[in-house]
Amino acid sequence: MDSLAAVDWTAYETQATAAIGAALADSELEDARVHWLGRKSELALALRGVRDKESGMLLNGIRGRLEEAVQHREQELRRLAYQHAAERGVDVTIPGTPVKRGRLHLLTQIRREIEDIFLGLGYEVWDGAEVSTVWENFDALNTDAGHPSRSTLDTFYLDDDTILRTQTSPDQIRAMMTRKPPIYMVSPGRVYRRDTPDATHSPTFQQVECLAVDRGITLADLRGTVLQYFRLLFGPEREVRMRTSYFPFTEPSVEFDVTCFLCDGAGCAVCKHSGWIEMGGAGWVDPDVFRNVDLDPEEWQGFAFGFGIERIAMLRHGLPDLRAFWENDIRVLEQF
Ligand code: DAH
Repeated sequence: MDSLAAVDWTAYETQATAAIGAALADSELEDARVHWLGRKSELALALRGVRDKESGMLLNGIRGRLEEAVQHREQELRRLAYQHAAERGVDVTIPGTPVKRGRLHLLTQIRREIEDIFLGLGYEVWDGAEVSTVWENFDALNTDAGHPSRSTLDTFYLDDDTILRTQTSPDQIRAMMTRKPPIYMVSPGRVYRRDTPDATHSPTFQQVECLAVDRGITLADLRGTVLQYFRLLFGPEREVRMRTSYFPFTEPSVEFDVTCFLCDGAGCAVCKHSGWIEMGGAGWVDPDVFRNVDLDPEEWQGFAFGFGIERIAMLRHGLPDLRAFWENDIRVLEQF
């Protein structure tokens, strides 16, 4: 066999093995394979011309070892690629990390829960303005000119007539000035007071205001509505009680308590062993407030309340410090 005789097959195998082993990328390996083992390689041509057994065994032996060398180099290149990636700080064998999902702030969750309750009771949900006129926040709500809460020590003034609202109650005034009764609205949102932050005080916190204006509304309607609200929020066993109180814009004014939802009224640290938890102020809308917004108190009556939202979150989850809501410590927030 000419071709067999013309080639030094030992040298061929040595060179081919070296070329395959030196390939640094898949494309180089493929080039080497085509050159030394491909259909037009000297080896393939010689194999096609083989007539005797001895030559056949020699050339097939070379082909088999070279094919193995190609496979071996292929695996080596893959391993090197992983190793390089790992050296660059990427370990491609590590399973992917799940994408972290965000969540709503606890106060937002509770606020939405409250909104859903009142939507279910047929109320309209308002998004009131945090910037209020002095008239809406104080005068229209019957708060007289000398009231201490109007002082610049207690209230953030933007100018002589404009403030950051100190309560959500001015939304009552806005509602009555922009809607014709009957009105059934709740307005949750932030309020602002010049307080030094500590565990139970914050210069900003959230309230939810409720106002119902209709013909023939009584204190029994107020009591029934608040009872229903607390039962939906804290459980069907809850009871409420009213204590007399004073607010300039309601007459009579009351303070609502709910039976403790942690001890079911038996007495615990949260309800200070009284079985009752204070929830906030309410009352029958003062006729003077109706007159301030040009509604006739002979025709229209109403009730209102304004309860804090942080208080609900703190009681429910046993949170001891109001500041946790604003510090945005992810270790606290991600628990809810
Ligand atoms: N605005 C009052 C406060 O911040 C709470 C309040 C009391 C709201 C009686 C009302 C109400 O609507 O009728 O202390």
